[in-house]
Amino acid sequence: MTEKCNIIKDYSYFLSKRGKLKEASPIRSLFQYSGLPGMISLGGGLPNASTFPFKSINIELKDGSKLEIEGSDLEEAFQYSPTPGLPRLQNAFKDLQIRQHNLCSPDEPGKEWNLIISNGSQESLVNAFEVLVDDNDSIIAENPTYSGTLSILRPLSLNICGIETDRYGMIPEKLEKLLSEWDHSKFKFPRVIYLIPCGQNPSGTTMNHQRKVDLYSICSRFNLLIIEDDPYYYLQFESENKSEEVDDANNVSSNSNGIISLGKSFLSMDVDGRVLRFDSLSKILSSGLRIGFVTGNKYLLEKINFHQQSTTLHSSGLSQAVVLSLLNKWGIEKWNQHIQSIQRFYLEKRNQMIESIDRHLKGLVEFNVPSAGMFIWFKLLGVEDSKALIFKKAVEKKVLLVPGISFSTDLSKPSQYVRACFSTASKEQMDEAIKRFAELLSEELNNK
Ligand SMILES: Cc1ncc(COP(=O)(O)O)c(C=O)c1O
Repeated sequence: MTEKCNIIKDYSYFLSKRGKLKEASPIRSLFQYSGLPGMISLGGGLPNASTFPFKSINIELKDGSKLEIEGSDLEEAFQYSPTPGLPRLQNAFKDLQIRQHNLCSPDEPGKEWNLIISNGSQESLVNAFEVLVDDNDSIIAENPTYSGTLSILRPLSLNICGIETDRYGMIPEKLEKLLSEWDHSKFKFPRVIYLIPCGQNPSGTTMNHQRKVDLYSICSRFNLLIIEDDPYYYLQFESENKSEEVDDANNVSSNSNGIISLGKSFLSMDVDGRVLRFDSLSKILSSGLRIGFVTGNKYLLEKINFHQQSTTLHSSGLSQAVVLSLLNKWGIEKWNQHIQSIQRFYLEKRNQMIESIDRHLKGLVEFNVPSAGMFIWFKLLGVEDSKALIFKKAVEKKVLLVPGISFSTDLSKPSQYVRACFSTASKEQMDEAIKRFAELLSEELNNK
């Protein structure tokens, strides 16, 4: 927990000019009344669902059990629905957040929070930045950071301040130095910080508890809103001390079945109300369903909701209905079992990759062993610019990695790094790819 809290009283401080102007869609705001008992709606403008050709959805799961969506559930899935999501799915996700992140009830006076479902967390991120940042604002992020977020931020001509990372992510001392020595005459002071705490994309780093406490306390002191983008949260596959015991310092524990319980998120330690948390089902159920959700302060989420009302209206009803039906079928126990199987899967893939690295890449690269996610971030020894190497020579050798510059907040300098992903290649493919990459690096060094 942080020593002191700076509870946010004025959320409008965090809004962009556009965010301040966002208002409710007059038609969409009627949705909340349409389900009231006895209500006859002549508003709305919904098409008549009886004209839709679909009768039922049947999905067979890999364990042989079945999901069946029909009747009013099917109609709800195929009809326009409320922007924040199908109410029963929204409630299921709220329960998940309460359980997983220790949240109070969403209506607790002074701490009201909400949750909005979107087409993957990428859409929530776009929506959030729309209502939070103006052109030429400053924003803080880890360097390197997720290229998908950079592609949202770059066209806004933002002053993106990339902070150096170590094996636990953003270095607090560097953040503190930047903020305390800020030149107010040159750039606007940042209001928002963007962080990827687990299995960071691309660096693979996972913040331990102390790192989160230290960063949170700096954000609280300098009044920064924290965007906690955490799609790899459920892909944490290793506790720091690798023991089966509860590890209080890092708030990670594992039971005798090998399930790693997941450490405290920024949201769970948020005494000030300064965290917007972005979750995604892409890495745990399906990326094609395009389901993500954002959780945080009610007022800020209302603005995000207003923006979504004018863009996608709501995320796919069909995808939401499939997830709802699955969660209802599974309950908490099966959900946990599924998370456990994912953790084990990625742990095994990570280990396969490490074996191949030990076999082929010794002396050619430096890297940290990730404890979550699906990425390894290699520093290529003796290579100054990885981009040329990848786009020409690696492609010729038929091995693909992503050059570090794609994730850099500072495009003025070349990057020595590449990102390797261990999620999809088979053990044999991974070994062959790492071998080809090692040959390429050796040839490069020999040619110097
Ligand atoms: C850090 C990060 N944030 C957000 C996303 C987008 O996830 P989604 O599929 O939920 O839109 C990704 C996808 O790879 C990611 O790595």
